[in-house]
Amino acid sequence: QLREQGVLVFGPSKEGARLESSKIHAKEIMQAAGVFTARSFVVDSVASCLAAAREFKPPYVLKADGLAAGKGVFIEKTLAGLEQAARALFEQRVLGDAGARALLEEFSSGYEVSHLVLTNGKTAVALPPARDHKRLLDGDQGPNTGGMGVVAPVSLPDGLLEKIERDVVAPVVRELDRRGILFRGVLYFGLMITSDGPSVLEFNTRFGDPEAQTLLPLLDEHRGPTWTEAFTAIAQGEVPKLVWNERRRIACVVMAAEGYPDSPVKGAVIPKLKDFVPTTESYVLHAGTEKRSGGYVTSGGRVLNAVGVSEQSLDEALAQAYRAVESVRWAGCQVRADIGRTV
Ligand code: AMP
Ligand code: GLY
Repeated sequence: QLREQGVLVFGPSKEGARLESSKIHAKEIMQAAGVFTARSFVVDSVASCLAAAREFKPPYVLKADGLAAGKGVFIEKTLAGLEQAARALFEQRVLGDAGARALLEEFSSGYEVSHLVLTNGKTAVALPPARDHKRLLDGDQGPNTGGMGVVAPVSLPDGLLEKIERDVVAPVVRELDRRGILFRGVLYFGLMITSDGPSVLEFNTRFGDPEAQTLLPLLDEHRGPTWTEAFTAIAQGEVPKLVWNERRRIACVVMAAEGYPDSPVKGAVIPKLKDFVPTTESYVLHAGTEKRSGGYVTSGGRVLNAVGVSEQSLDEALAQAYRAVESVRWAGCQVRADIGRTV
């Protein structure tokens, strides 16, 4: 509607945004584009889920079709666990309509990369690759979350970025264009780098959180377009030439509330936050806080992002991020200690 009224818009059309809002639709686009992705079946009942599971070996991956704030994917090691997840989705309807249908998908092993591009719907320009840490606990254990920390840029094996551009990004953008889907915004490819190459796990149609916290400061706005100029260009259907700060390394460590992701504790006092003095290398971004009588309390799941910036090394960026963590840590807060350490 904004576009129809002549407003310049950075962001996909509603149809384009379905790449994120429906995993079933996303899978269909991946298949039509011919990109590598895990085999899957659409299921909508405990019975159809268990029947489809006969085609796969454990662990089983069950993904709610709709949006679930990072909580819609169940990875189950046993059939009994899968049955329980299917009952939660289809019978208890824990995710409401978002979980009325789901994909049962083959498990892919490897390491994950978040690959974001800006696109005008015809061509795309890549952002530096980032690595999210989706599981709640150290060593990639515990439940999936919206993301517990990111480092960027990550170094990838020679030729991999080119392969991702050629075999994943280009075919998907071509497929959107072929279908006449207007897409002027960020397209986020959640990839699993398997021994057979990059496999698409999911799309987001926005900057990731916490990917954005590490990617936005990497743009060298002195030597090339600013973000404002880049977004304006995309909104006008052009693709900007982005220049990246080649030396900069960024780490973002998420500080989550006690009880996250199931039932985050709200109203917990963060006593040290009001006295924290940020620097350009070590700062804290608010995500789920509320100001109360001169201080701050928690008001969401992922409460704060501790960000570290270094022009020297990722290790230094991580040290800066963890320095911020230690300066504002509150009782009950959940932080992974191994961000940037796992592959
Ligand atoms: P998604 O929302 O589809 O990206 O899934 C959330 C997280 O679940 C991913 O970031 C992965 O850590 C994990 N995941 C999703 N699909 C698979 C799969 N087929 N095999 C292994 N892990 C997966
Ligand atoms: N960090 C993943 C997301 O924003 O969906």
